[in-house]
Order: sequence, then C-alpha cells, then structure tokens
Amino acid sequence: MPTPQAGILPAPQSNALFLILNVVNPTVNGKAVAKVAAGIPALVEKIGATDSRAKLVCTVSFGSELWNALSPKKRPAGLRPFTALAAEGLSAPSTGGDLLLHILSKRHDLNFELAMRVRTQLGGMVEVMDEVHGFQYLDSRDLTGFIDGTENPKGNKDRSAAALVGAEDAAFTGGSYVFTQRYIHDLAKWATVPPREQEKVIGRRKADSEELSEKAKPATAHISRTVIEENGEELEIVRHSFPYGTVSEKGLFFIAYCKTLDIPEKMLARMMGTSGDGHHDHLMHYSHAVSGANFFAPSLEVLATLGRR
Ligand code: HEM
Repeated sequence: MPTPQAGILPAPQSNALFLILNVVNPTVNGKAVAKVAAGIPALVEKIGATDSRAKLVCTVSFGSELWNALSPKKRPAGLRPFTALAAEGLSAPSTGGDLLLHILSKRHDLNFELAMRVRTQLGGMVEVMDEVHGFQYLDSRDLTGFIDGTENPKGNKDRSAAALVGAEDAAFTGGSYVFTQRYIHDLAKWATVPPREQEKVIGRRKADSEELSEKAKPATAHISRTVIEENGEELEIVRHSFPYGTVSEKGLFFIAYCKTLDIPEKMLARMMGTSGDGHHDHLMHYSHAVSGANFFAPSLEVLATLGRR
C-alpha cells in the first residue's frame, strides 16, 4: 500500500496552519511548483527534527486545474472543482485554489517557520488566496462552544477506510480527496440563543456532546443533516477542522479527507437545503461559508513522482 501523507490519519495536534495558494500561469509554473511541493516532506523532517515532540506534519494537496497542468492523462478519477451551492438565502461559494498546505504541530512557531520557507521557495509562482491559523479551543470545541469531532472515525483502520482511495483507483491508492470551506460565525447572534435551543441546532448536548434522543433532535439539527445512511451504512469522512480568528472575525476552517468527494457533497447539499427533502441545517443561520474548494492529497510516492515530471 502506498504511504498516505502524514497529516491525514493521526488525530491532529493543537495548532494548524492552512495555506491555499493560486499558481500564476500553471502551464508555465506548474512543474516548478510541483517540485517545491514534492520537497515539503523532507523540509518537514528537517524543521521537525528541531523538536520531535512537537510532531510537525504537513499534507500537500492539489486542485483540479493544477493537476491538469501537471498530469493531464493520469488523474485521480474523482478530482473536480467544487460546485457552488445556493438556496433559501444560504450560499456555499466555490473559490478554488491550486495548492493546499495543511500544517499541524503542537507549536505555532514551527508551523509558521515551515509555511514561510515554502512560501519563499515558491516566490512569484504563486499568490496566497487564504491563510488560516487554527488553534485547539478548550477541550476540542468549536467557537460555538460545542465539542467538534465526537463522531469522527477513530483509529487507523476506520480512518483509512473513510479517508483513503483504495483499489478502485489503483494508480492513486493511499491518496485522499480533500474538501475545505472557511466559515465565519456570527457569535453575537449565537449568544442570543438559549443553550437548550443551541443543543437542538447541533443535535448534541453542549456539556458532553451526548446525542439528543430521536424525539428531541430536530430534522434540521446539524447532525441530522450530516448523518447519511446508504445501504445500511453511514457515510464517513475524516474531519480535521479547526477554530480560527481574531476577536473581530472568527469561525471554523472546515476540512475533510475522504475516499470520494461525493460524500461531503451530499452532506453539504443536506446542510444547504438543496437535497430536496425541504430541510436545511439551522446551524447555517449562525455561520456562513466564505470559501470552498476541492483538492487531492496524493500518496507520498505519487507526490514524489509529480515533482520529477
Ligand atoms: C460552521 C461549520 C460547522 C460547524 C461549526 C460544525 C460543527 C459540528 C459539531 C459541533 C458536530 C458534533 C460533534 C461531532 O460529531 O463532531 C459536528 C458533527 C459533524 N459534522 Fe459538522 N460542523 C460544520 C460544518 C460541517 C460540514 C460543512 C460538514 C460536511 C460537509 C460537516 C460534517 C459533519 C459530520 C459528518 C458530523 C458527524 C455527525 C455524526 O456522525 O454524528 N460539518 N459538526
């Protein structure tokens, strides 16, 4: 089995740095950008060695357009740009991006060091589209105060089954599709909602993340919208989302690794009210997405090959 990139399967450390880059003229610069990207695992090892307890990792992912410029014939079968959604006054924009760096460690300074070095190497070949510095908030809570990650697949076996491409696309086994959205929360509005009502918006108890009973949990609760059963099995993704922000603008950087982009697409359609059952996710009354993009995180072996093209 080819080796998945280092940040996908382990539970995340306390600090994250997300960098979404746009490649200027991918047909001209794509190859040189891929070479820098392929060098990132070695750079991570070098910087990470200064403090191995910080557990520095970085997962590098490619957008559909950059992949086309690099390897038009050999493509991950399901890689496609994210299609924007809009309905009932809610919207999920598609903002794109060619390269995603997902950096994790216990030390913000090491994350920053790595991001700066990669940024310097890429020079004028890229523009920064979005940069988000995420932090673990309290006991892994979203800024709404609810624990995030309770029902995430746990352990290598379950996380691999949800996140990694298997034999169905043999050239890309061990790779992973990535879906990202940056959300901005309206916490002032959220604070006007009594805790018992907030629990109905999420579908879980605030204190301990216990799921509400079927009777108490509305069809519009976040977890009612994102739990989807098909052929008796729940559709799974591996979420790595992080709170971020300043006292002025704050929210959640949502990121999910998955074996097919169909799964987050279905969840999002149910959240946004475009799935056809007449409901939408009431969490979306308190938060809105300002970015949206799909990527593919190839296995380490495929990443190295891309750098040699
Ligand atoms: C404002 C953005 C979001 C916030 C604040 C948020 C927060 C939460 C919270 C608090 C939970 C409950 C605890 C847990 O199981 O992790 C949860 C569950 C979940 N969320 Fe989100 N989420 C957001 C966006 C999304 C999006 C965009 C998706 C998918 C496209 C998604 C998919 C899921 C899934 C699959 C679960 C687990 C449901 C279960 O099995 O019980 N979330 N989220």
